[in-house]
Amino acid sequence: MKIRVLGSSAGGGFPQWNCNCRNCDGVRRGTLKATPRTQSSIVVGANGEDWLLVNASPDILAQIAAHPELQPARRARDSGIAAVLTMDAQIDHVTGLLMLRERDTPLPLYTTDVVWQDLSSGFPVTSILSHYCGVERHRVPFDGEALTIPALAGVRIEALALSSKAPPYSPHREAPQPGDNIGLSFVDTHSGKRAFYAPGLGAIEPHVMAAMRQADLLLVDGTCWTNDEMIQLGLSGKTAADMGHLAQTGAGGMIEVLDSIDRPGVRKVLIHINNTNPILVEDGPERRVLAEHGIEVARDGMAFEL
Ligand code: MLT
Ligand code: MN
Ligand code: ZN
Repeated sequence: MKIRVLGSSAGGGFPQWNCNCRNCDGVRRGTLKATPRTQSSIVVGANGEDWLLVNASPDILAQIAAHPELQPARRARDSGIAAVLTMDAQIDHVTGLLMLRERDTPLPLYTTDVVWQDLSSGFPVTSILSHYCGVERHRVPFDGEALTIPALAGVRIEALALSSKAPPYSPHREAPQPGDNIGLSFVDTHSGKRAFYAPGLGAIEPHVMAAMRQADLLLVDGTCWTNDEMIQLGLSGKTAADMGHLAQTGAGGMIEVLDSIDRPGVRKVLIHINNTNPILVEDGPERRVLAEHGIEVARDGMAFEL
């Protein structure tokens, strides 16, 4: 099983178009040791040619251009993206669907039922796409039933519901439903190796911890360093927790959670990193703290073979 990080940034990207925080301004001017990142997405594949796109970022066209393996060019119109799965209905995970409309066959789209509802109402991308390539709907179960996808022979997908909120434009924003946001385990059925991917992980519930403990690769919520980071910088009134994200520091934070996982050989990688997060500074003290805890920071293009 192969996993490639297409976009390691949270919504907005790094640098964010209108942001002049220390990180965004510094990377733009070249005065900070940091690397630009596109918005939240990975691909998972088994044969090196057909890929499941997990989250369709607003940056999908640039991400495809940056990764020739997604362009096998077998026919006049062709893509290595065989199917798409979106883990929630957030803008940074679904906007890219609109960019895939030139297909000549319906786009296979895997979502939970509630995400499908949001993508047919609050953000009606499936209705819009019905006027172009159309969408072939597939349901993602999250009650223990595994999912297999034809293009990913030898990969089993296990989804679990995360306690989170639907996006602001969801008709049920104030009444969270199981399946608004999921975490995914990708299991290579030959090697038995497992990857756990959860770019938004507000609370480490027992079933989440159980999935994390089994994983050989953890790609988990790296949005904010401190819970009040955006407030401290005067950029938002919301904490990381308000946005459904678990900060790295503090009691019960992601560093503590990851410290409690000691599976031999496990790789711990933070992904979906907000542009305000000081871990983006490659020679900064926060990076050194992460290194002491054996925690890596995802970058675009990072590849894993399991
Ligand atoms: C989030 O992860 O909190 C959202 O995707 C933020 C956004 O894209 O606006
Ligand atoms: Mn996001
Ligand atoms: Zn910024």
